[in-house]
Amino acid sequence: MLVLILFSLVSSTSHASLLSNACPKCGNLDVPYPLSTHETCGLSNYKVYCKNGSLEFLSAEGFYYQILSINQLENRLIISPPLIQKRTCQSSDLSLGGLRIDDNSPFNISSRNTVMLFNCSDNILLSPLNCSLTSPCRVFEDKVKEGKGCRNTLCCSYLKDSSMNSHRIRIRVGGCSAYTSAVDLKSSTVDDWQFGIELQWLPPTETLRLGV
Ligand SMILES: *[C@@H]1O[C@H](CO)[C@@H](O)[C@H](O)[C@H]1NC(C)=O
Ligand SMILES: *[C@@H]1O[C@H](CO)[C@@H](O)[C@H](O)[C@H]1NC(C)=O
Ligand SMILES: *[C@@H]1O[C@H](CO)[C@@H](O)[C@H](O)[C@H]1NC(C)=O
Ligand SMILES: *[C@@H]1O[C@H](CO)[C@@H](O)[C@H](O)[C@H]1NC(C)=O
Repeated sequence: MLVLILFSLVSSTSHASLLSNACPKCGNLDVPYPLSTHETCGLSNYKVYCKNGSLEFLSAEGFYYQILSINQLENRLIISPPLIQKRTCQSSDLSLGGLRIDDNSPFNISSRNTVMLFNCSDNILLSPLNCSLTSPCRVFEDKVKEGKGCRNTLCCSYLKDSSMNSHRIRIRVGGCSAYTSAVDLKSSTVDDWQFGIELQWLPPTETLRLGV
């Protein structure tokens, strides 16, 4: 009985400290622990940025991606794919080589992303990507306004599974020059797609959480 009481005391205090150490809301989004918008809350290696009411994730190359949603229980968040610039087939992070997350970061790219690459050069056909006429990237080119500039270019898609580098989505001039991503893609109807790049984070250890 005593053990039980002690246990519930300990767990309720650690829960309370967790709550008090969460950062304030950013725009409409709650910023759950350990995400940190400021040095006084969250944990410093889970840094995100609250810019004018928009919560953003900063890549290793210095590009800000808007955070669209956060699932605290599953340690996941979804960032917006970079815009494909009007009348071109170039993602706005093209000059930075696409999305790259530092190898030492607690964040990585989850295996639920279907990544679509556009305006690829022919040599990509050697790789194990789906570049067929039925690839989801064709649907994006045909049905989504943003994909218009990429029509009739060579496009391919792949599921970002665990056999792949989980810290980057690479694009480059002379390779593929634009990309997008959809999370947990099951349907071929574009209206059902959840556009975004899902990241997951390694939760802090219990010691860190208790501030020991
Ligand atoms: C900040 O957000 C408001 C409302 O979304 C917008 O009207 C304003 O232009 C933004 N300011 C800057 C500096 O981005
Ligand atoms: C490409 O993707 C489509 C749609 O998911 C699928 O039907 C087709 O079998 C895939 N083709 C290859 C070569 O993987
Ligand atoms: C496709 O990529 C090439 C470089 O690889 C670039 O010069 C060209 O402008 C791109 N096409 C479009 C429509 O943006
Ligand atoms: C990405 O991070 C998650 C949680 O931290 C981990 O379980 C997973 O193994 C990592 N994936 C890869 C491919 O490293």
